Amino acid sequence: MNAQDILKRKSAEQAVEFVKSGMVLGFGTGSTFNHVLHVLAEKLNSRELENIVGVASSEKTERLAKELKIPTDTLANNLSLDLTIDGADEVDENLNLIKGGGESHLREKIIGQASKQYIVIVDESKLSKSLGEKWAVPIEVIKMAIDIEINYLKSIGAEVKQRLRSDGSAVITDEGNFLIDANFGVIQDLNKLATLLEKRAGIVEHGLFIKMANYVVVATKSGVEVLEKL
Ligand code: A5P
Repeated sequence: MNAQDILKRKSAEQAVEFVKSGMVLGFGTGSTFNHVLHVLAEKLNSRELENIVGVASSEKTERLAKELKIPTDTLANNLSLDLTIDGADEVDENLNLIKGGGESHLREKIIGQASKQYIVIVDESKLSKSLGEKWAVPIEVIKMAIDIEINYLKSIGAEVKQRLRSDGSAVITDEGNFLIDANFGVIQDLNKLATLLEKRAGIVEHGLFIKMANYVVVATKSGVEVLEKL
């Protein structure tokens, strides 16, 4: 494991401390979240945790959970989740998030909204004062609307790129949509931007997660810190 992986693993271990036997969990997506699945698998094998079931936010997560023999189920069968653990691309001082670097923010937000508690795990490289310092905002759009939403996002000041794979083909999300990365620079008013994006019919969901995280677990070189929403 490289130094960053060690930090990711530490934040995952800390987050799994919130998990109790019998819980229905929301499973996030990404390289940081994958450590959570490995920690959970170890605790299920040793019987330190029992009777856990997870609802996955992506096909990738579902596959890894199955490989690790962690039980999963659908959201339809579990309309209220006890706790979701997930990663993030950027976290601001008020624990607002940018998510979607891993193509999954739509399902992640659905699962987060269905959860009593939402815990985000990051290493310290993801922290910023204000969102937009480090990441563009991922925006999932239905296919027919790609060009018109690109034009719209430019008209409200974003530098815009459709997300492509290394072979030049378009990224298609698990829900069959396209993704746009919209760089607004430092975002002055998150709520105003979110409202603008939510008004567009072609935009399915944006990657701004405002006031959703109850806790953010941050792994730093000097230790793990748990930040709590005020
Ligand atoms: C997935 O769509 C994202 O929201 C991820 O949670 C995010 O990209 C974090 O990924 P890493 O843990 O791989 O950085």
